[in-house]
Amino acid sequence: MSSWLVTEKRSWPEWLALQVLKVGPIPKHLALIMDGNRRYAKLHEQETFHGHIAGFKTLTYVLAWCRDLGITEVTSYALSIENFKRSKEEVEGLLSLASNKFEEVLNEGENLAKHGVCIRIIGNLDLLPTYLRAQTAEVVLMTRNNTKCFLNLALAYTSRDEITAAVRECAIAISEGRLQETDITPRLLEQCLYTAQSCHPDLVIRTSGETRLSDFLLWQSQFSCLFFTKVLWPELSIWHVLGAVFHYQRHHHTVVAARKQAKLLYDRYELEADQACSPDDPECGCDGTKARKIRVERFIADLVERREKTYHALSTQLKEIKKQQQESCEQEQK
Ligand code: FPP
Ligand code: MG
Repeated sequence: MSSWLVTEKRSWPEWLALQVLKVGPIPKHLALIMDGNRRYAKLHEQETFHGHIAGFKTLTYVLAWCRDLGITEVTSYALSIENFKRSKEEVEGLLSLASNKFEEVLNEGENLAKHGVCIRIIGNLDLLPTYLRAQTAEVVLMTRNNTKCFLNLALAYTSRDEITAAVRECAIAISEGRLQETDITPRLLEQCLYTAQSCHPDLVIRTSGETRLSDFLLWQSQFSCLFFTKVLWPELSIWHVLGAVFHYQRHHHTVVAARKQAKLLYDRYELEADQACSPDDPECGCDGTKARKIRVERFIADLVERREKTYHALSTQLKEIKKQQQESCEQEQK
């Protein structure tokens, strides 16, 4: 049985609660700040690493509960850039846990395809060790055509880093003449974020009693419903998640209204950006608005292509590393 795709039989009360909740609006996208692993380990007189292992197990249960609820996208904060400041031992433990789990993903491509699970990685891949970075690329490429449910793992991630990288992309494009200053709108910036392929989270859950977002999806959670619970992440149960969904349902109407208002505002920004273009653009022989559309489309296509090339280069690198490992293993056996 896979370590990522757990299946559980629901008890009668759980099944009933699920059916009742499913009558109301269900969040499409759930974001998770999995906090409290070390306190859990301490409470159970275990090493910190065991807290993170228990935390991973909980994540797989949450994914199963989401499948039962009909939540099709989950983004979880697995490793923040801030976490690199922790002890060498803990950081190495977390990185090797991630690497082991990705190896398991790579060995169960068929099963993930059968369940339609697409895994994406969001974060600054350059900060990860070479082997893990190459594994993440391979996982992304292997699961990219699965379209039933989406798991976005935030690794070496913070919102500040993500937004800074997006702004830098735009600044470089302006300096090279590929974009004009007035082309920059919230919608354009959003397409440069690591999460460009996702909708915004409807509900964010943070465990362990901390009531902060800790630099997680700050842009994307503008209108998300926030749910904080005191339970430590490894002790999270289906009842906490059902409670969070109920909380979302009670606030759903305000989320919908706020998003509607924001859409009008962002439409206006687009209009203003179009109006800021000169009526005629001699370079492309068309009116300014169309010229802006072409510039923006080219800029985004170029960004996507560069990210794509990076994934393929990393995937090739992984194959080479594995080949070398295999060869040295064979040498040793001779
Ligand atoms: C926060 O608890 C948790 C983390 C920093 C790591 C979370 C990672 C996992 C649950 C496993 C991720 C899985 C993969 C595949 C990488 P904490 O360490 O801050 O605990 P504390 O708040 O009690 O100190
Ligand atoms: Mg913590």
